[in-house]
Amino acid sequence: MKENMQITIDGPASAGKSTIAKLIAKKLQYIYCDTGAMYRSATYVALKNKVRLDDDAALAQMLGQMTIRFQPGETEQRVFVNDEEVTDVIRTPEIANNVSVVAAQPSVREILTAQQRKIAAQGGIVMDGRDIGTAVLPHAQVKIFLIASVHERAVRRYKENVAKGINTPLATLEQEIAARDQKDSTRKISPLTKAKDAIEVDTTSMGIEEVVAKVMAIVKEKEQE
Ligand code: DC
Repeated sequence: MKENMQITIDGPASAGKSTIAKLIAKKLQYIYCDTGAMYRSATYVALKNKVRLDDDAALAQMLGQMTIRFQPGETEQRVFVNDEEVTDVIRTPEIANNVSVVAAQPSVREILTAQQRKIAAQGGIVMDGRDIGTAVLPHAQVKIFLIASVHERAVRRYKENVAKGINTPLATLEQEIAARDQKDSTRKISPLTKAKDAIEVDTTSMGIEEVVAKVMAIVKEKEQE
Protein backbone atom coordinates (compact mmCIF):
# COMPACT_ATOMS: atom_id res chain seq x y z
CA MET A 1 0.00 0.00 0.00
CA LYS A 2 1.53 3.26 -1.15
CA GLU A 3 1.16 6.34 1.00
CA ASN A 4 2.13 9.97 0.50
CA MET A 5 2.02 9.70 -3.23
CA GLN A 6 2.55 12.46 -5.75
CA ILE A 7 -0.62 13.10 -7.75
CA THR A 8 -0.42 15.33 -10.81
CA ILE A 9 -3.43 16.93 -12.51
CA ASP A 10 -2.71 18.57 -15.84
CA GLY A 11 -4.94 19.82 -18.59
CA PRO A 12 -6.11 22.90 -20.48
CA ALA A 13 -7.47 26.12 -18.95
CA SER A 14 -10.82 25.85 -17.13
CA ALA A 15 -11.04 22.06 -17.30
CA GLY A 16 -11.72 22.01 -13.54
CA LYS A 17 -8.20 21.06 -12.46
CA SER A 18 -8.05 23.21 -9.34
CA THR A 19 -11.59 22.31 -8.19
CA ILE A 20 -10.83 18.61 -8.50
CA ALA A 21 -7.27 18.85 -7.15
CA LYS A 22 -8.47 20.67 -4.01
CA LEU A 23 -11.19 18.09 -3.32
CA ILE A 24 -8.83 15.16 -3.86
CA ALA A 25 -6.22 16.76 -1.57
CA LYS A 26 -8.86 17.26 1.11
CA LYS A 27 -10.07 13.66 0.91
CA LEU A 28 -6.54 12.28 1.18
CA GLN A 29 -5.33 14.97 3.60
CA TYR A 30 -2.63 15.84 1.11
CA ILE A 31 -1.16 19.26 0.37
CA TYR A 32 -2.58 21.03 -2.69
CA CYS A 33 -0.23 23.08 -4.87
CA ASP A 34 -1.63 25.33 -7.62
CA THR A 35 1.32 25.90 -9.95
CA GLY A 36 -0.72 28.26 -12.16
CA ALA A 37 -0.88 30.59 -9.14
CA MET A 38 2.93 30.66 -9.13
CA TYR A 39 3.08 31.77 -12.81
CA ARG A 40 0.31 34.26 -12.09
CA SER A 41 2.21 35.63 -9.05
CA ALA A 42 5.35 36.11 -11.15
CA THR A 43 3.26 37.98 -13.75
CA TYR A 44 1.69 40.20 -11.08
CA VAL A 45 5.06 41.20 -9.62
CA ALA A 46 6.53 41.82 -13.09
CA LEU A 47 3.65 44.10 -14.06
CA LYS A 48 3.83 45.91 -10.72
CA ASN A 49 7.59 46.52 -11.05
CA LYS A 50 7.42 47.23 -14.78
CA VAL A 51 9.66 44.31 -15.65
CA ARG A 52 9.25 43.37 -19.32
CA LEU A 53 7.22 40.17 -19.54
CA ASP A 54 9.50 38.66 -22.17
CA ASP A 55 12.78 39.65 -20.49
CA ASP A 56 13.80 36.24 -19.21
CA ALA A 57 16.94 37.43 -17.37
CA ALA A 58 15.13 40.29 -15.63
CA LEU A 59 12.30 37.94 -14.62
CA ALA A 60 14.81 35.44 -13.25
CA GLN A 61 16.41 38.17 -11.14
CA MET A 62 12.98 39.27 -9.94
CA LEU A 63 12.06 35.68 -8.95
CA GLY A 64 15.28 35.46 -6.94
CA GLN A 65 13.99 38.28 -4.78
CA MET A 66 10.48 37.01 -4.18
CA THR A 67 9.03 34.09 -2.25
CA ILE A 68 5.70 32.57 -3.24
CA ARG A 69 3.87 30.97 -0.34
CA PHE A 70 0.57 29.11 0.03
CA GLN A 71 -1.42 29.22 3.23
CA PRO A 72 -4.63 27.35 4.00
CA GLY A 73 -7.59 29.75 4.26
CA GLU A 74 -11.16 29.22 5.47
CA THR A 75 -12.69 28.70 2.06
CA GLU A 76 -9.73 28.71 -0.29
CA GLN A 77 -5.97 28.49 -0.26
CA ARG A 78 -4.40 31.94 0.10
CA VAL A 79 -1.37 32.98 -1.95
CA PHE A 80 1.33 35.35 -0.72
CA VAL A 81 4.29 36.98 -2.44
CA ASN A 82 6.71 37.86 0.32
CA ASP A 83 4.26 39.41 2.81
CA GLU A 84 1.69 40.64 0.32
CA GLU A 85 -1.50 38.63 -0.17
CA VAL A 86 -2.16 38.18 -3.90
CA THR A 87 -4.96 35.56 -3.77
CA ASP A 88 -7.51 37.75 -5.57
CA VAL A 89 -5.34 40.06 -7.64
CA ILE A 90 -3.74 37.15 -9.53
CA ARG A 91 -7.21 36.13 -10.81
CA THR A 92 -7.91 39.41 -12.63
CA PRO A 93 -8.19 39.51 -16.47
CA GLU A 94 -5.02 41.65 -16.61
CA ILE A 95 -3.02 38.76 -15.18
CA ALA A 96 -4.90 36.08 -17.14
CA ASN A 97 -4.17 37.90 -20.40
CA ASN A 98 -0.45 38.32 -19.70
CA VAL A 99 0.59 35.15 -17.89
CA SER A 100 1.22 33.05 -21.03
CA VAL A 101 4.15 35.27 -22.04
CA VAL A 102 5.78 34.95 -18.62
CA ALA A 103 5.11 31.19 -18.49
CA ALA A 104 6.94 30.77 -21.81
CA GLN A 105 10.27 32.15 -20.50
CA PRO A 106 12.87 29.40 -19.96
CA SER A 107 14.43 30.70 -16.72
CA VAL A 108 11.03 31.37 -15.23
CA ARG A 109 10.04 27.76 -15.88
CA GLU A 110 13.34 26.45 -14.55
CA ILE A 111 13.09 28.42 -11.31
CA LEU A 112 9.42 27.67 -10.66
CA THR A 113 9.87 23.99 -11.59
CA ALA A 114 12.66 23.71 -8.99
CA GLN A 115 10.41 25.33 -6.37
CA GLN A 116 7.56 22.97 -7.29
CA ARG A 117 9.79 19.88 -6.97
CA LYS A 118 10.85 21.06 -3.52
CA ILE A 119 7.22 21.49 -2.44
CA ALA A 120 6.42 17.97 -3.73
CA ALA A 121 9.56 16.24 -2.46
CA GLN A 122 7.96 14.64 0.62
CA GLY A 123 4.97 13.34 -1.35
CA GLY A 124 1.44 13.60 0.00
CA ILE A 125 0.76 16.21 -2.63
CA VAL A 126 -1.75 16.99 -5.36
CA MET A 127 -0.18 19.41 -7.83
CA ASP A 128 -2.05 20.88 -10.77
CA GLY A 129 -0.80 22.71 -13.85
CA ARG A 130 0.16 22.07 -17.45
CA ASP A 131 3.49 20.21 -17.29
CA ILE A 132 3.45 18.55 -13.88
CA GLY A 133 3.20 14.95 -15.09
CA THR A 134 5.57 15.54 -18.01
CA ALA A 135 8.28 17.90 -16.73
CA VAL A 136 7.95 18.72 -13.02
CA LEU A 137 7.19 15.31 -11.47
CA PRO A 138 7.77 12.74 -14.23
CA HIS A 139 7.92 9.94 -11.63
CA ALA A 140 4.61 10.77 -9.93
CA GLN A 141 2.59 7.68 -9.01
CA VAL A 142 -0.74 9.09 -10.23
CA LYS A 143 -1.09 11.28 -13.31
CA ILE A 144 -4.43 12.64 -14.42
CA PHE A 145 -5.04 14.61 -17.61
CA LEU A 146 -8.34 16.46 -17.28
CA ILE A 147 -10.08 17.68 -20.40
CA ALA A 148 -13.47 19.12 -21.42
CA SER A 149 -14.78 20.65 -24.64
CA VAL A 150 -14.08 24.36 -25.28
CA HIS A 151 -17.82 25.07 -25.14
CA GLU A 152 -18.30 23.30 -21.80
CA ARG A 153 -15.29 25.08 -20.27
CA ALA A 154 -16.61 28.43 -21.49
CA VAL A 155 -20.04 27.69 -19.98
CA ARG A 156 -18.43 26.84 -16.61
CA ARG A 157 -16.36 30.03 -16.69
CA TYR A 158 -19.45 32.02 -17.70
CA LYS A 159 -21.40 30.75 -14.68
CA GLU A 160 -18.50 31.52 -12.32
CA ASN A 161 -18.26 35.01 -13.80
CA VAL A 162 -21.99 35.70 -13.45
CA ALA A 163 -21.77 34.73 -9.78
CA LYS A 164 -19.00 37.34 -9.42
CA GLY A 165 -20.98 39.98 -11.33
CA ILE A 166 -18.80 39.75 -14.46
CA ASN A 167 -20.76 39.63 -17.72
CA THR A 168 -18.35 38.62 -20.49
CA PRO A 169 -20.34 37.08 -23.38
CA LEU A 170 -20.07 33.31 -23.79
CA ALA A 171 -18.68 33.64 -27.32
CA THR A 172 -15.83 35.85 -26.04
CA LEU A 173 -15.00 33.30 -23.33
CA GLU A 174 -14.95 30.54 -25.94
CA GLN A 175 -12.50 32.54 -28.05
CA GLU A 176 -10.28 33.32 -25.03
CA ILE A 177 -10.17 29.68 -23.94
CA ALA A 178 -9.35 28.46 -27.45
CA ALA A 179 -6.58 31.10 -27.71
CA ARG A 180 -5.06 30.05 -24.38
CA ASP A 181 -5.17 26.38 -25.38
CA GLN A 182 -3.32 27.26 -28.54
CA LYS A 183 -0.64 29.27 -26.69
CA ASP A 184 -0.18 26.71 -23.90
CA SER A 185 0.12 23.75 -26.24
CA THR A 186 2.34 25.27 -28.92
CA ARG A 187 4.98 27.00 -26.80
CA LYS A 188 8.51 25.61 -27.18
CA ILE A 189 9.26 24.75 -23.56
CA SER A 190 7.04 22.41 -21.55
CA PRO A 191 3.98 22.70 -23.77
CA LEU A 192 0.70 21.33 -22.53
CA THR A 193 0.82 17.65 -23.48
CA LYS A 194 -0.49 14.51 -21.89
CA ALA A 195 2.19 12.39 -20.24
CA LYS A 196 2.39 8.90 -21.75
CA ASP A 197 1.39 7.33 -18.45
CA ALA A 198 -1.34 9.86 -17.60
CA ILE A 199 -4.98 8.80 -17.46
CA GLU A 200 -7.26 11.08 -19.44
CA VAL A 201 -10.57 12.03 -17.85
CA ASP A 202 -13.03 13.89 -20.09
CA THR A 203 -15.29 15.89 -17.79
CA THR A 204 -17.49 17.45 -20.50
CA SER A 205 -20.62 15.73 -19.32
CA MET A 206 -19.58 14.89 -15.76
CA GLY A 207 -20.46 16.64 -12.51
CA ILE A 208 -17.81 17.56 -9.93
CA GLU A 209 -18.66 14.67 -7.58
CA GLU A 210 -18.52 12.23 -10.46
CA VAL A 211 -15.06 13.43 -11.50
CA VAL A 212 -13.81 13.26 -7.90
CA ALA A 213 -15.13 9.69 -7.58
CA LYS A 214 -13.43 8.70 -10.83
CA VAL A 215 -10.08 10.23 -9.80
CA MET A 216 -10.32 8.68 -6.31
CA ALA A 217 -10.90 5.27 -7.92
CA ILE A 218 -7.73 5.76 -9.99
CA VAL A 219 -5.81 6.81 -6.86
CA LYS A 220 -7.05 3.79 -4.87
CA GLU A 221 -6.03 1.47 -7.67
CA LYS A 222 -2.53 2.97 -7.80
CA GLU A 223 -2.24 2.71 -4.01
CA GLN A 224 -2.69 -1.04 -4.26
CA GLU A 225 -0.09 -1.55 -7.00
O1 DC B 1 -4.04 27.20 -14.46
P1 DC B 1 -3.96 28.72 -14.59
O2 DC B 1 -4.98 29.31 -15.49
O3 DC B 1 -3.94 29.40 -13.26
O4 DC B 1 -2.53 28.99 -15.28
C1 DC B 1 -2.09 30.27 -15.56
C2 DC B 1 -1.10 30.26 -16.71
O5 DC B 1 0.12 29.64 -16.31
C3 DC B 1 -1.56 29.57 -17.99
O6 DC B 1 -1.32 30.43 -19.09
C4 DC B 1 -0.68 28.36 -18.13
C5 DC B 1 0.51 28.66 -17.25
N1 DC B 1 0.95 27.49 -16.52
C6 DC B 1 2.04 26.82 -17.01
O7 DC B 1 2.58 27.19 -18.05
N2 DC B 1 2.54 25.75 -16.34
C7 DC B 1 1.95 25.32 -15.22
N3 DC B 1 2.45 24.27 -14.57
C8 DC B 1 0.81 25.98 -14.71
C9 DC B 1 0.33 27.07 -15.40
